Amino acid sequence: MNQPGICDYTNYNYNDEFWKKTNREYEHLLEVSMVNTLLSKHADKKNTIMDAGCGFGRLYPSYNGIFTNYILVDYAQSLLDEAKQALGQSQNISFIQQSLYDLEMEKKVDAIISIRTLHHLHDVEPLFKRLYNSLSDSGILILDIPNYYHIKNRIKSPFIKRIPKVKQSENFFNYDPDYIIRHLKKCGFSVIDQRCLGLFRSQVIKKLISPKLLVGIETYLNRWIKWLTITPSVVIVVKKCG
Ligand SMILES: C[S@@+](CC[C@H](N)C(=O)[O-])C[C@H]1O[C@@H](n2cnc3c(N)ncnc32)[C@H](O)[C@@H]1O
Repeated sequence: MNQPGICDYTNYNYNDEFWKKTNREYEHLLEVSMVNTLLSKHADKKNTIMDAGCGFGRLYPSYNGIFTNYILVDYAQSLLDEAKQALGQSQNISFIQQSLYDLEMEKKVDAIISIRTLHHLHDVEPLFKRLYNSLSDSGILILDIPNYYHIKNRIKSPFIKRIPKVKQSENFFNYDPDYIIRHLKKCGFSVIDQRCLGLFRSQVIKKLISPKLLVGIETYLNRWIKWLTITPSVVIVVKKCG
């Protein structure tokens, strides 16, 4: 395997190293809760959902029970195996090892979520075309945009000229959300909702306040600030428009 240009998680213990060893309960709960709310609110049909770049299936609780069938796609077979072990064998869950650049679905799905994956994908237009072709008419895509121009960076460099894509390291990118939205529109999507995610990504705040309370506050604040692209993660909901 090992295709060039792909961030291969095969030999990385993502769950332990990234989630368990560090204090990220707030981020996890927030993402599960936001995705769950957005899917319940915006998905017209609730038959099949795809988790694109699913990792070890961390976000399964955000769609379990809302849809009937679940398709988990990832490039790393080791993470899919971990997901299989955690979620168990069921007729309603399929695991597909595939790069999202090569994504091909036998049947269209009603919703796709892709969380924390876009920062490993540098070629957005072919990706968005694949996602568009995988969705049924009026299907929705919930996409997490790694936002370079969040409030801390804007304060640090207020007059910086914005560029569409910032390469942080090999196979790791942050984006200008406007650039991503422009490309989504070009590929036939229209934006129907948005959220700011990660207002409290600070070790000090996370040590002082419980994750559940932080999630409650952030969910509440999103009523007013959801269209501001001030957080390190901007989650948008787009719909196929024809
Ligand atoms: C940061 S992890 C996020 C996993 C999961 N979405 C979550 O939030 O827990 C990024 C995931 O994207 C997958 N990935 C990276 N490039 C990919 C590609 N081209 N096609 C499919 N999956 C890819 C990795 O294997 C990894 O599981």
